[in-house]
Amino acid sequence: MKAVGLHRYLPITDPDALLDVDVPQPEAMGHDLLVEVRAISVNPLDTKHRAPNDANRNSVETPPRILGWDVAGVVAATGPAVTLFRPGDAVYYAGSIARSGGNAEFHCVDERIAGHKPASLGFADAAALPLTTITAWQGMFERMNISSSGADAGKSLLIIGGAGGVGSIAIQIAKRVAGLTVIATASRAESAAWARSLGADHIVDHNQSLPGQLKTCGIAEVDYVLCANAAGRHFADFPALLCPQGKICSIVDGPNETDFLLLKRKSITFCWEAMFTRPLFQTPDMVAQHDLLDRAASLVDAGVLRSTATMNLGTINATHLKQAHQLIEQGRSIGKIVLEGF
Ligand SMILES: NC(=O)c1ccc[n+]([C@@H]2O[C@H](COP(=O)([O-])OP(=O)(O)OC[C@H]3O[C@@H](n4cnc5c(N)ncnc54)[C@H](OP(=O)(O)O)[C@@H]3O)[C@@H](O)[C@H]2O)c1
Repeated sequence: MKAVGLHRYLPITDPDALLDVDVPQPEAMGHDLLVEVRAISVNPLDTKHRAPNDANRNSVETPPRILGWDVAGVVAATGPAVTLFRPGDAVYYAGSIARSGGNAEFHCVDERIAGHKPASLGFADAAALPLTTITAWQGMFERMNISSSGADAGKSLLIIGGAGGVGSIAIQIAKRVAGLTVIATASRAESAAWARSLGADHIVDHNQSLPGQLKTCGIAEVDYVLCANAAGRHFADFPALLCPQGKICSIVDGPNETDFLLLKRKSITFCWEAMFTRPLFQTPDMVAQHDLLDRAASLVDAGVLRSTATMNLGTINATHLKQAHQLIEQGRSIGKIVLEGF
C-alpha cells in the first residue's frame, strides 16, 4: 500500500525528510479496526516526531516510520474482539503514539479510541478534529473538572494559543458545551478574527502583558487557564491571572520546577493533559475516548461544534505533507491543515 514515511530524522528542507513509500498492509488483530484512510490532518506532534534531535539524529528506520495521528476513513475489516463498529462504518480518530501512524492507505486503530465520523462532515473536515478535540475535552472536563453539562456556565477560561488547532476546538467546546466566558489569545488580525468567529468573547495578544489586557476586558481574574502554547513564557503571569483556587491545564512543556511555588498562595491547581496517556498505557477506561469522539460527532451533527479545517493541501503524499510540516513549524497556523485521498 502507499504511505508517507521517513528513514532518517531530517530538517523539513531536506528532500528526504518525508518520502513516498510502499509498505505491506497491516492486519486487524484483537480490538483493531482496519481503516481505509480517506483523509488526515497534521499536528505539531508530527513535526516534533520527524525533526532531528539528540536521541534520533543517527537512527535509521527500516522499514520506514510512518507518522500521522488524525484520521478519517472507512472500516475495511475488524479484529475478532471488535464490538463497537462494523465494516463500512465511517470513523475518525487520533490513534496511538505507540503505534504506526495514519499517513497510509490502510491503518489499524483500537476500536476503544475511535469514534463514528460526524455524518454531516466530509472526510477532510472530520480529520481535522479528533486529536485536538480529545485534548481540549479531556483538559477541560477531566483534568480541570469543568462541568460538561453547563453547571459551571458563566465561569471564565483563558485559552493561550486560541487560533491554533487545539485552541480552535477548545474555544467552541468551552463556549457552546460548557457555557464559559472565553478569553482567547491571538497576536494577529487574522488569528484574532478566526478565534472570535469560533465564539471567543474576548481576544488578548499573547505578545503583550496578559494581566493588563484582561483588566481592560473588565475581567479581574479567570477561573481556568488552558495553556496550549509557550507555558514557560506565560507561567509567571498565571498567579495574577487566576482567581484563588483556580485551575491551569497545560498541554505543553515548561515551566521550571521552582515556578510552581508561585501558585501556592492562591491554592491554584496545575494539571497536565497528554492525550495519548490512555492508549499509551492501555488504561482500563480507554473506551472513554470512543465515547468522547461519539459525543463530539453528535455535537457537530447538531450544529453545536464545527470543523476547524482551514486549509486542504490536496492528495496525501510526501510533497504535500512536507508543505504541511513547513507551515506548522512556522508556529502561526490558524485552525487545521488537512490532506485527502491517495
Ligand atoms: N499534550 C497534548 O496531548 C497535546 C495535544 C495537542 C497538541 N499539543 C501541543 O500543543 C501545542 C499547540 O498545538 P496546536 O495544534 O494548537 O498548535 P498550532 O496550531 O501550531 O498553534 C499555532 C498557534 O499558536 C499561536 N502562538 C504562537 N506563539 C504563541 C505564544 N507565544 N503564545 C501563545 N500562542 C502562540 C499562534 O497564534 P498567532 O498566530 O496569533 O500568534 C497560532 O495560532 C503544540 O506544542 C502541540 O504539540 C499537545
